[in-house]
Amino acid sequence: MGSDRDQIVEHLKFLAELGVDGISSDPLWRTRPGDSLWDSPSEAHAADDIAPAERLHGIREDLGDCTRCRLHGGRSHLVFGVGRPDADLMFIGEAPGRDEDLQGEPFVGRAGQLLTKIIEAMDLRREDVYIANVIKCRPPQNRNPERDEVETCRPFLFAQIDAVRPRVIVALGSFAVRTLLDDDRMPISRARGRVYECRGARLVPTFHPAFLLRSPDRKRDVWEDMKRVRSILRGD
Ligand code: URA
Repeated sequence: MGSDRDQIVEHLKFLAELGVDGISSDPLWRTRPGDSLWDSPSEAHAADDIAPAERLHGIREDLGDCTRCRLHGGRSHLVFGVGRPDADLMFIGEAPGRDEDLQGEPFVGRAGQLLTKIIEAMDLRREDVYIANVIKCRPPQNRNPERDEVETCRPFLFAQIDAVRPRVIVALGSFAVRTLLDDDRMPISRARGRVYECRGARLVPTFHPAFLLRSPDRKRDVWEDMKRVRSILRGD
């Protein structure tokens, strides 16, 4: 681990790569969900008898030691989801990779570290958001999930969305976009730049962090998408 100065330099370099062109002194930019300035859907939540955390717990219990599809055979851990149960912002990826399978937590490998940096560049912390995947068990050799695997897992993802009730969902990559929009052909390049509706939330498609590791020049596009997310959350 480098010195504090090294870490600050590293962080500023990353922000420059993203194309962050300044740091706002607007107090709204620095508030987090849960702060009074943040316009949260607490009234809608209050109308519910069952708290989001409890609902998520119920969904996890329902999944249990899942054997509903073939992927259970190769997994070390079922990777459910992590973060704030009543988050305003939810990120949804494809499926666990090797690191996630070993640790039982989504987005903890290299792509996950990049996702965490993107979240932090938005002046949020990982614990402020909720992170999940379409598929809960690692496909062998990280192959693409198959249709029946998606069909089996999707109701649990939808139940997670309904429990958390985020205001904004960021769909990471084609696979998440296709699953959430129920459109098998939609390429991420076409989906990006528009805001969709998904289960009562605004859906913002963006590139998957694993793609950004291969194509770092697209980080600026992702930052544009994250700015859109921020402005939706701020009610602009
Ligand atoms: N890629 C994903 O889509 N999800 C993870 O959890 C990790 C990598």
